[in-house]
Amino acid sequence: MQPPEIIAIYGSPRRNGNTATLLKKAVEGAKTAGASVGEIILRDLKISPCLEIYGCKNVGECMLKDDFQKARDQILACQGLMLASPVFFYTVSAHTKILMDRFQSLWVKKYWIERTTRDRQILHRKGLFIAAGATKGKKLFDGILLSLRYFFEVIDMELWKALLYRGLDFEGDVLKHPQYLTEAFENGKRFAEALKHES
Ligand SMILES: Cc1cc2nc3c(=O)[nH]c(=O)nc-3n(C[C@H](O)[C@H](O)[C@H](O)COP(=O)(O)O)c2cc1C
Repeated sequence: MQPPEIIAIYGSPRRNGNTATLLKKAVEGAKTAGASVGEIILRDLKISPCLEIYGCKNVGECMLKDDFQKARDQILACQGLMLASPVFFYTVSAHTKILMDRFQSLWVKKYWIERTTRDRQILHRKGLFIAAGATKGKKLFDGILLSLRYFFEVIDMELWKALLYRGLDFEGDVLKHPQYLTEAFENGKRFAEALKHES
């Protein structure tokens, strides 16, 4: 069986929070465009934080064995990634950050072992990022976007689009903004179509 073209990662601890609701809409949109979508719900996985022991330094493989390996394989096999995270202290949620940090093993493989140079790197896969925060400041997404872009570079992913929503706090707040849901659906659809044109 072919692996799914798109993997959607739910990064919030809330199952039905604002980012999860938006991501579900984007997934729905991608499916209407004919994409197959696999889902990873981070709060259901057991993934240890990186312990910074650099057991990965010889072969680029993380020594900690848990749910990371399966998630990593799915993420590296997909053509498109949808990632949704709330803003927590100006960056991604802890669940998302733990996943990102475990990709340090891939960073080691690429840049220490294989000596990949960034100027020769081709970002051949695409990512759609969804984030929500409670406040409304101009810099609300500066930190999260820095982390995200750096993570995407490590997994050879170009940021296709970021859907960023301010002023969402309590679970269900996003439902008061039907236009955000429509936008997530439409972008999910367009994202799947953009992937088709690539393949
Ligand atoms: C631990 C924690 C840290 C947060 N940090 C921020 C923050 O730095 N800036 C902000 O605007 N909102 C912050 N929030 C609010 C969330 O970003 C907001 O409630 C968001 O809509 C949650 O998305 P979710 O429902 O998908 O989990 C924080 C919430 C929590 C629980």
